[in-house]
Amino acid sequence: MNALELLKNRVSIPKLRAPAPDQKLMDECYQAAMRAPDHGRLKPWRFIQISNDGLDRLGQLYLDAENFDAVKNQGEEVSEVRRQKLLSMPQRAPMIVVVVGRVEAHPKVPREEQFMAAGCAAYGLSVSLFAQGFGCMWRTGALAYHPVVKAGLELEESEEIVGYLYIGTADCTPKTPKPQQIEDFLTKWE
Ligand SMILES: Cc1cc2nc3c(=O)[nH]c(=O)nc-3n(C[C@H](O)[C@H](O)[C@H](O)COP(=O)(O)O)c2cc1C
Repeated sequence: MNALELLKNRVSIPKLRAPAPDQKLMDECYQAAMRAPDHGRLKPWRFIQISNDGLDRLGQLYLDAENFDAVKNQGEEVSEVRRQKLLSMPQRAPMIVVVVGRVEAHPKVPREEQFMAAGCAAYGLSVSLFAQGFGCMWRTGALAYHPVVKAGLELEESEEIVGYLYIGTADCTPKTPKPQQIEDFLTKWE
């Protein structure tokens, strides 16, 4: 498939299974992600690659985060059903890459631009994986912004989670995207 067809047809793959890409392919895809447009060439992002026991550790962090909230709000610990759900959430794929934005004050490059560059890196990684026949689903939610999760992942003060990229082999039939009415999105000054 040529590059334009590929970009027009990229879809998220919500159901993923093993195998994940091997490290050689992941490294190639990280190289592609590193080519994200980037004002000031700050490279304001990094990746945390999680698989195997790391997925269990991430699930435990999710549980710790919700139990922390429960204690803070003087409520009960999470129910057994919720506990199991939180622990199993990262098991929805054989690999998760946490894309981390590292946004610092800069005299010329606003924080928003740095965070956008990190988002472009996340997209670059996901579309590269798609190009190589692997599936990816970008997720966030409250657990991407929770201080307990951020501390457990050892994020610095200046760092934020851009997204969890769930990565693996498609375990469902990918959607066929519908072409959009471009006029609805396009203004021309001619
Ligand atoms: C920053 C960001 C956060 C997202 N968070 C979630 C999420 O938490 N849960 C979810 O189901 N989809 C989330 N999505 C959307 C999916 O990744 C996906 O793009 C969407 O389901 C549309 O599917 P498509 O990519 O095939 O068009 C997020 C997308 C972005 C860019």
